[in-house]
Amino acid sequence: MNVGVLGTGIVGQTVAGKLAELGHDVVIGTRDVDAALARSEGPRPGLPSFAQWLEQHPEVRAGTFAEAAAHGELLVNATAGTGSLEALEAAGADNLDGKILIDISNPLDFSRGMPPTLSVSNDDSLGEQIQRGYPGSKVVKTLNSVTAAVMVNPASVGEGDHHAFVSGDDAGAKAEVTRLLQDGFGWRCGPIAAGPDQEPFCYLTTKGRVTGAPHTIEIWFALDGPTLYLLSGGGRRSDWVRNLIREPGVSVRIRGRTYRARARVVTDAEEDERARTVVHDKYAPGYRGSLAGWRRISLPVALDLGPAEPAPG
Ligand SMILES: NC(=O)c1ccc[n+]([C@@H]2O[C@H](COP(=O)([O-])OP(=O)(O)OC[C@H]3O[C@@H](n4cnc5c(N)ncnc54)[C@H](OP(=O)(O)O)[C@@H]3O)[C@@H](O)[C@H]2O)c1
Repeated sequence: MNVGVLGTGIVGQTVAGKLAELGHDVVIGTRDVDAALARSEGPRPGLPSFAQWLEQHPEVRAGTFAEAAAHGELLVNATAGTGSLEALEAAGADNLDGKILIDISNPLDFSRGMPPTLSVSNDDSLGEQIQRGYPGSKVVKTLNSVTAAVMVNPASVGEGDHHAFVSGDDAGAKAEVTRLLQDGFGWRCGPIAAGPDQEPFCYLTTKGRVTGAPHTIEIWFALDGPTLYLLSGGGRRSDWVRNLIREPGVSVRIRGRTYRARARVVTDAEEDERARTVVHDKYAPGYRGSLAGWRRISLPVALDLGPAEPAPG
């Protein structure tokens, strides 16, 4: 998807870089491209200048706020809160119209030094001001309460698996942003009770028994404590089952987190029945036809899960 990220600071760079890594076509916006490229300092001491950062991210292009906003089907506001309305004015109302605008800004006023004061507070907020100013856009406020690096890598804090707040007036826009946060950045956005077992699919990677290359499939699953159950409709003939019989060390990704696991074909009669039941019962209510035949003939496979892999970076 084409994304316009307004803001060349640490947040704009971090989010733009991650979106590009996810395969989006990103233009990062600034007031004045030449001035931004001429800066010798990075957004934080020790970080590369904007020009150096762009060299390190050749897939991201720089443009004015208006160019970035015109390019994006999805927009991100990562400008200083006290300049956000000005930045959006420069971006142009026509370029915001009908689009989701992820607003990460905070109305922090540093003009009287540290600590900053709030430029908007109490009965109003910057997000509301932006939504009022651009009623044709769909403002979704999120990620503004965490530091830039964590925005795109929540698993870097503790064991990961953290919730992000998402607010906005448009339910469809919130759902779309939630998907990006969950599937792209690794946040949890659902109700607290919705654990990983509520995910529709997991991604199982086995080692190809002929090539030795990783082989990943998207597959239904259900969790029962630390054991993840899968049902193979193709029985032992399925490639992934043949692979894991040869090499039981596998990995499985659920909602952006990857777990090492030992895989085994279930042989115990009691566990066999439990595996069929948990997987069938998870999917049957939302399935149009009957899953009874599949439940009966498929082959239950168990993955005994290890800890999640440490987050990269
Ligand atoms: N830093 C964090 O970890 C963090 C965490 C949570 C939320 N936030 C929020 O995210 C936003 C971005 O933060 P940041 O630290 O990356 O950078 P920042 O220094 O707060 O903002 C830099 C961006 O704001 C633009 N800007 C500044 N004044 C402007 C004005 N008067 N008119 C138009 N544009 C203006 C700059 O444009 P130019 O490119 O033209 O210079 C630049 O692109 C802020 O609202 C911040 O409060 C930051």
